[in-house]
Amino acid sequence: MNEQKLKNIPEHVALIMDGNGRWAKQRGLPRTLGHKAGVEALKEIVRYSSNIGIRILTVYAFSTENWARPAEEVDYLINTLLVEYMKKELNELHKNNVRIKILGDIDSLPDLTKKQIIEAVETTKNNMGLKFNIALNYGGRKEIIDAIRKITNMVLNGMIYEKDIDEELFSRYLYTEGDKDPDLIIRTSGEMRISNFLIWQSAYSELYFSKKLWPDFRKEDLDEAINEYARRERRFGSV
Ligand code: FPP
Repeated sequence: MNEQKLKNIPEHVALIMDGNGRWAKQRGLPRTLGHKAGVEALKEIVRYSSNIGIRILTVYAFSTENWARPAEEVDYLINTLLVEYMKKELNELHKNNVRIKILGDIDSLPDLTKKQIIEAVETTKNNMGLKFNIALNYGGRKEIIDAIRKITNMVLNGMIYEKDIDEELFSRYLYTEGDKDPDLIIRTSGEMRISNFLIWQSAYSELYFSKKLWPDFRKEDLDEAINEYARRERRFGSV
């Protein structure tokens, strides 16, 4: 489908890129090559999202729970794939006015990974095109606890009153810092869970599940998800 045919483009799309391991297994390849293929799929989706006018794309790259995976796989994701991605893609992303932001705790990541990430974030911080949020070492519950800590500190320091705390204020202290909540959340590979991803922000998101494994997810699949989204009627609790 071409770009003009899509109507009602969601402003904020979030992606749970699941199924890299199974994709590799089906081909008798190591899981790491599944992740590598996953990055190729992601490149196409980022480019396309920017072209069709999605404002914010948030992807789940690595969760706080993913540290429990085999050391070799964690090492490849954190020390190889991410670093290479940031290095190789930065120019193109910057040229396309994409603004990269990290959701999650990067302080504890290895120095080289951190350095590459900070460079990408700094280089693109004034760009006004697609906002590309990469959830990295991210956990939704941790995000909420972090927000509570920041807000509690402000109350204790007399910067705000307890009565000032409302949903709007709370949202500003999440990693998404008051970004519009995701309109559409897509999870691939047939699993139907949120898995601690954007659990505050997804309160009214439309959920879309694709049977495709992430490395097989193409722009046509995103079109299909967007068309399905456009057909749904969002009521936000009203009638
Ligand atoms: C889930 O598949 C995928 C991940 C845990 C990692 C997703 C990461 C990428 C696509 C690449 C990294 C991102 C950037 C921005 C460079 P799985 O391994 O859980 O698959 P399985 O359920 O089939 O085992």
